[in-house]
Amino acid sequence: MEVLPALIFIAIQFILLFLHPLQPAMSRPHNNFTDLESLLAFKASVADPHGLLATNWTANASFCSWIGVRCSHRRQRVVALKLPFFFLGGSISPHIANLSFLSHLNLSNNALTGPIPGAIGRLPRLALFSLANNSLSGPIPLSIFNMSLLVKVSLAKNNLSGSLPSDTDPPFMLPRLQWMSLSYNHLTGSIMSNFARSSQLQLLSLSFNNFSGSIPPELGNITGLNFLYLGANQLTGTIPASIGKLSKLNRLNLVDNYLQGAIPEELGNLLDVQYLGLAENNLTGSIPMALLNASKIHTLILYENNLTGSIPATLGVSWPRLEIVDIHRNQLTGRLGFIDSLSNCRNLQYLSLSENKISDFLPHSLGNLSTSLNYLLLGSSYIKGRIPSTIGNLHGLIGLDLGENELVGEIPSEFSRLKGLQGLFLNRNRLNGYIPPELGLMTGLNALYLEENALSGTIPHSLGNISGLQELSLAANGLSSGIPDSLWSLTSLRVLNLSGNTLDGSLPQQMGNLKFFDILDLSKNRFSGNISSVLGNLQMITYLDLSNNSFDGEIPSSLDRLVISIGYMNLSYNRISGTIPKSFTNLGKLYSLDLSFNKLQGPIPEGGVFSNSSIVSLEGNPALCGALKLGFSPCPPPSNSKSNLHLLKYILPPIVLVVLLLSCFCTRLIFLRWGKKLKLPSEDASLNTIRVISYRELVRATNNFSEANLVGRGSFSSVFKAYLDDGLVTAVKVLNSENQSALRSFDAEYCALSKIRHRNLVRIISMCSNLDFKALVLQFMPNGSLEQWLHSHNYYLNLLQRINIMVDVSLAFEYLHHYHPHVVVHRDLKPSNVLLDDSQSPNFFLVTVSLYCLLPHQGP
Ligand SMILES: *[C@@H]1O[C@H](CO)[C@@H](O)[C@H](O)[C@H]1NC(C)=O
Ligand SMILES: *[C@@H]1O[C@H](CO)[C@@H](O)[C@H](O)[C@H]1NC(C)=O
Ligand SMILES: *[C@@H]1O[C@H](CO)[C@@H](O)[C@H](O)[C@H]1NC(C)=O
Ligand SMILES: *[C@@H]1O[C@H](CO)[C@@H](O)[C@H](O)[C@H]1NC(C)=O
Ligand SMILES: *[C@@H]1O[C@H](CO)[C@@H](O)[C@H](O)[C@H]1NC(C)=O
Ligand SMILES: *[C@@H]1O[C@H](CO)[C@@H](O)[C@H](O)[C@H]1NC(C)=O
Ligand SMILES: *[C@@H]1O[C@H](CO)[C@@H](O)[C@H](O)[C@H]1NC(C)=O
Ligand SMILES: *[C@@H]1O[C@H](CO)[C@@H](O)[C@H](O)[C@H]1NC(C)=O
Ligand SMILES: *[C@@H]1O[C@H](CO)[C@@H](O)[C@H](O)[C@H]1NC(C)=O
Ligand SMILES: *[C@@H]1O[C@H](CO)[C@@H](O)[C@H](O)[C@H]1NC(C)=O
Ligand SMILES: *[C@@H]1O[C@H](CO)[C@@H](O)[C@H](O)[C@H]1NC(C)=O
Repeated sequence: MEVLPALIFIAIQFILLFLHPLQPAMSRPHNNFTDLESLLAFKASVADPHGLLATNWTANASFCSWIGVRCSHRRQRVVALKLPFFFLGGSISPHIANLSFLSHLNLSNNALTGPIPGAIGRLPRLALFSLANNSLSGPIPLSIFNMSLLVKVSLAKNNLSGSLPSDTDPPFMLPRLQWMSLSYNHLTGSIMSNFARSSQLQLLSLSFNNFSGSIPPELGNITGLNFLYLGANQLTGTIPASIGKLSKLNRLNLVDNYLQGAIPEELGNLLDVQYLGLAENNLTGSIPMALLNASKIHTLILYENNLTGSIPATLGVSWPRLEIVDIHRNQLTGRLGFIDSLSNCRNLQYLSLSENKISDFLPHSLGNLSTSLNYLLLGSSYIKGRIPSTIGNLHGLIGLDLGENELVGEIPSEFSRLKGLQGLFLNRNRLNGYIPPELGLMTGLNALYLEENALSGTIPHSLGNISGLQELSLAANGLSSGIPDSLWSLTSLRVLNLSGNTLDGSLPQQMGNLKFFDILDLSKNRFSGNISSVLGNLQMITYLDLSNNSFDGEIPSSLDRLVISIGYMNLSYNRISGTIPKSFTNLGKLYSLDLSFNKLQGPIPEGGVFSNSSIVSLEGNPALCGALKLGFSPCPPPSNSKSNLHLLKYILPPIVLVVLLLSCFCTRLIFLRWGKKLKLPSEDASLNTIRVISYRELVRATNNFSEANLVGRGSFSSVFKAYLDDGLVTAVKVLNSENQSALRSFDAEYCALSKIRHRNLVRIISMCSNLDFKALVLQFMPNGSLEQWLHSHNYYLNLLQRINIMVDVSLAFEYLHHYHPHVVVHRDLKPSNVLLDDSQSPNFFLVTVSLYCLLPHQGP
């Protein structure tokens, strides 16, 4: 009678097979052998470049002891598969869906490609599910939206496309869902209101996609929602008032959409909200008074909208925790009285009201703001009155912008107390009186902009004490007397604009010390004397304007040494005599040369810039001749015979070549390097303002850190090519967030490195630093690394190019070791850290040594 129990057993198995709704496949019973098969199929479809699975997932050990695998105790079935940061490539095998006891699947932070297998949606017990930060593409399988036990899902940072199931599409059954992040993909279509059916939802993040349509009002029904992130999409319509019902909401981010209409008063019911980001939309109306009820707000981001009306006067009293207020670029009017109330906010760090229509007087209470305030940006806002001397209380300031307003009176000497200030912008106001000598005590300054005011007197000698000063503009004021000698000791100076004053004196020899000059504008003054030959030392200069002065003498032939860089040269309206140096035809980077209204004579050189009448202006020099195209009369015939010319044409070039080669070896003469990169003026203009590059801009610029933009990946960081909003092409180096020690020292290192400026060292343009994201924005070097050029068959370097690269690298090191204020030891010089610029001339690249390897995380 042993047959009966066996039959009963089989019958029970049979019934169970058909009745059990969780049994995904009926053809074969699922057991731990299926699990083994599935794991092996998974292993076979992924690429495992570091061999992490190859050495561990071996047949002679139970799969339950394999790395990343966890089994249930009793049945020895796989319940968790966690392989984040395993460098896995390849695709995800659909066999993974046969792990029918799986409840935790985490394959985040790998390099997986291909689609998400739709079968995953049939894993009956899956609760925690992350494929974030891979390169998965294709649509999100519909089945994912029908998983009764799913609690947390993140598919963020992939290349997913397609749209979410529409509200009429069945099925949507995620009753336990708490966390849904789909941000940083390319998802389209509208946001389904079905999310509201997941009543336990705490986080919904759909930012950085291409969602369109309006925000479903039903989202307001998810009463437990803490985080709602819908930023950087193409959402239209208005902000639903029902959002105000989300009483547990902590962060609301709708930044960078096409939302219209007013900010709903109902948002004032968000009593727990701390972060409110509505910037970069087209919101109108005023900031509702009711919003002041949301008393826990610490970050208010409303910039770039069309908000009108005034800023509520009790702002700071209602919101005592404020840290960041950015309302710039709106149409706000009214009084600055709210600044009184902001003294209540002891953690205030950032206040920007720039580009509004506030036409009020700056209150004395400005000085009562928190000393933790780092940035106070009130530019272009029609602000009137005097600068209160209490401003000296704001010890924490790093950046202060009061430019382009209607301020009057004198510059308070109390500024000198702002020892940490790096950028001071008081340009385009009606300030008068002297420049207070106390400004020289602001030893942290990098940039000082006082142009277009009514300042008088002399340039204080003390400015020479601000040893780190890089940008100084005092243009269009009434300053008189000479330039103090101390100014020429500011060896970091890159931009000096003294144009439009009544300054006099001549150009001293010490000027040659300022080797990093980029822009020098001394036009419209009363300078006299010779144009000093030391100008030839300023070999990084791109913009030189000495026009409208009383300079005399001849054009120093040393100016032809500026061949590397100079783009704009204006010497017009002076009393310069003599001939135009023939070597000027070599200034290959020039886009504008103005020598008009001087006393120049003799033949105009032929060729080069002089063959392009739209670049050169020579009028008002009646004694010049030649260049018939430019309207001058022909010169008397030259005396040397034609045959001589012919001889020279064939004999000279080889001789010149030999001499050039020798001089390279022996004297390190730099004038060889033609074809250096011309820095466009727009690039420099961007330096004149405090350029803070936001994370979002970097995301846009790198197309969401896409593989297509990836230039290189190291163990500590990845480098992406980035197109910034202003068109500048840069390289962005993103530090890996696991490397905690590097992250901690990042800001300090950035400060040190950003001050290193040399033609042959990669320039650090900016940085982006959040708590968990650190990136350097660097000059982009399109021609790759020297290593590539040396070891690849597709590239070839000739002898001249090799010599040129050697000279450039040694110049970079000479600077680091001898001319930089602190000796900098590079520690990692190798061909892959020598980068090559693009170049017009095939023989000469701009060679730069990569600097970011100086960051301590690279180790010795
Ligand atoms: C068996 O497992 C050991 C470690 O337990 C490993 O060193 C060895 O390479 C494995 N052998 C095979 C054939 O996979
Ligand atoms: C499969 O499960 C059985 C018990 O059901 C167990 O004896 C066996 O070791 C398991 N196999 C593996 C590879 O875990
Ligand atoms: C695989 O890795 C796990 C976890 O690190 C370890 O316990 C196990 O011994 C390893 N097995 C083999 C065969 O190396
Ligand atoms: C595992 O999954 C694959 C693909 O989904 C399927 O073809 C296969 O039959 C499954 N194997 C078992 C043992 O169920
Ligand atoms: C994404 O994953 C890569 C490894 O594939 C890792 O280096 C990087 O830091 C991760 N990014 C984020 C934001 O976690
Ligand atoms: C997946 O792993 C990553 C990295 O360890 C972790 O940050 C994340 O919270 C995990 N996600 C889930 C859903 O387990
Ligand atoms: C949704 O899931 C249930 C089981 O949880 C299943 O019976 C149903 O067929 C699924 N619907 C679709 C359309 O996949
Ligand atoms: C959800 O919200 C919508 C609009 O806000 C409302 O009409 C509807 O009654 C709500 N549904 C539930 C179940 O609360
Ligand atoms: C503000 O409104 C004007 C016209 O009403 C429009 O031209 C402008 O683009 C709007 N600004 C923003 C930021 O949407
Ligand atoms: C902003 O909204 C106004 C009207 O509310 C409209 O005239 C204008 O075109 C919109 N601007 C943009 C950029 O959408
Ligand atoms: C992203 O997916 C699209 C197709 O959806 C594909 O054409 C593109 O190459 C993918 N990009 C990356 C970086 O994988």
